[in-house]
Amino acid sequence: MSTKLDTEQAVRERYAAAAQECEPQLCCPVDYDAQYLKVIPDEVIQRDYGCGDPSKYVREGETVLDLGSGGGKICFIASQVVGPSGTVIGVDMNDTMLDLARGSQASVADKIGYSNVRFCKGRIQDMAIDRDAVDEYLKANPITDEASLQRYEAFATQMRRESPMIPDNSVDVVVSNCVLNLVDASEKEKLFAEIFRVLKRGGRAVISDIVSDEEVPVSMQNDPELWSGCISGAFQECDFLSAFDRAGFYGIEMPILQDEPWQTVEGIEFRSTTVIAYKGKEGPCFEHNEAVIYRGPFRSVTDDMGHVFDRGERTAVCRKTFEIMTREPYTQHFVAVEPRERIDPKDAKPFTCSGGVEKRPPKITKGRGYKANILPQADSCCDSGDCC
Ligand SMILES: C[S@@+](CC[C@H](N)C(=O)[O-])C[C@H]1O[C@@H](n2cnc3c(N)ncnc32)[C@H](O)[C@@H]1O
Repeated sequence: MSTKLDTEQAVRERYAAAAQECEPQLCCPVDYDAQYLKVIPDEVIQRDYGCGDPSKYVREGETVLDLGSGGGKICFIASQVVGPSGTVIGVDMNDTMLDLARGSQASVADKIGYSNVRFCKGRIQDMAIDRDAVDEYLKANPITDEASLQRYEAFATQMRRESPMIPDNSVDVVVSNCVLNLVDASEKEKLFAEIFRVLKRGGRAVISDIVSDEEVPVSMQNDPELWSGCISGAFQECDFLSAFDRAGFYGIEMPILQDEPWQTVEGIEFRSTTVIAYKGKEGPCFEHNEAVIYRGPFRSVTDDMGHVFDRGERTAVCRKTFEIMTREPYTQHFVAVEPRERIDPKDAKPFTCSGGVEKRPPKITKGRGYKANILPQADSCCDSGDCC
């Protein structure tokens, strides 16, 4: 019987070496925006082991968290996109990678004129624990027996509860570039729960990673080179998307899936993808007499809450769904229909969701007594020649 690979050890060893010397086998060509690379030291750009560019989806002023930040390239790009009013946090478990990233921080800050990036030591599947703090604790309090182990456990529990490295609901965008595949299969669910935990309501995850077109056999998963090389820990395409769904995200989309595989191993094709997913569908539903109209082009669509929207129909929705449907990624697909008379939130009744079956006639949104006659003003448009 073959023993299971210690995936974390394989990853730690491979990337400690790859932080010191560029490993071309780990590089997947990516088209970054050249204007942001000018201020980044060459050794960081050379030790680029990403497979996509999630920083393209980041905006000014946001708080960004980069999982598995490596040499720091995505953090240094994001730092320029979010600007001085934004913040960027990189998390990596590897000391050598962290040295590379932290070693470039001052020079990038000097060139851009502000400092808004920090790098933390941690495992991305457990971001409550600050491993720099753990190092310090253990230096001062080595574990030598059961009693000292108990004291360490109390220290970790307290950190988790009172001063987590990345607090709950604290981040606008979680990005990651070619890292999730490296986390052991037994901890991947925990990893998605962590991404969900740290995001603010309304925040999003933008994850570039490698996916496979077929299931990866166990023999390949036990190969340390293939695992640490971002191959055999890859999710199968459909599983990657459903992992976000299971963790509670909505609006999950895959704007990028490479046409050509990055690598093919034993006939299985591995490609780079970028997935975006949103947090914020949880919580109660209230009636505000609002509706949305799905514009098409499909006859009907179903969202991640299970509502069905028929093309062109005024579908009754609760306040939460109304807000979701009028934000990205849905906004261009829906027309928002607000009631003529708003319901004060304190008077709003719980909404009984019909899953999209209930329609909202205009008589409800306009009000039953609505009998207005509104004709175009004589001088409203005809002078300009664009009459309707
Ligand atoms: C393929 S490299 C990608 C680095 C970087 N994102 C880039 O674009 O160049 C993977 C990085 O993730 C880190 N890593 C892998 N598994 C990790 C984990 N469970 N927790 C924290 N960091 C991890 C590795 O140390 C390494 O720096």
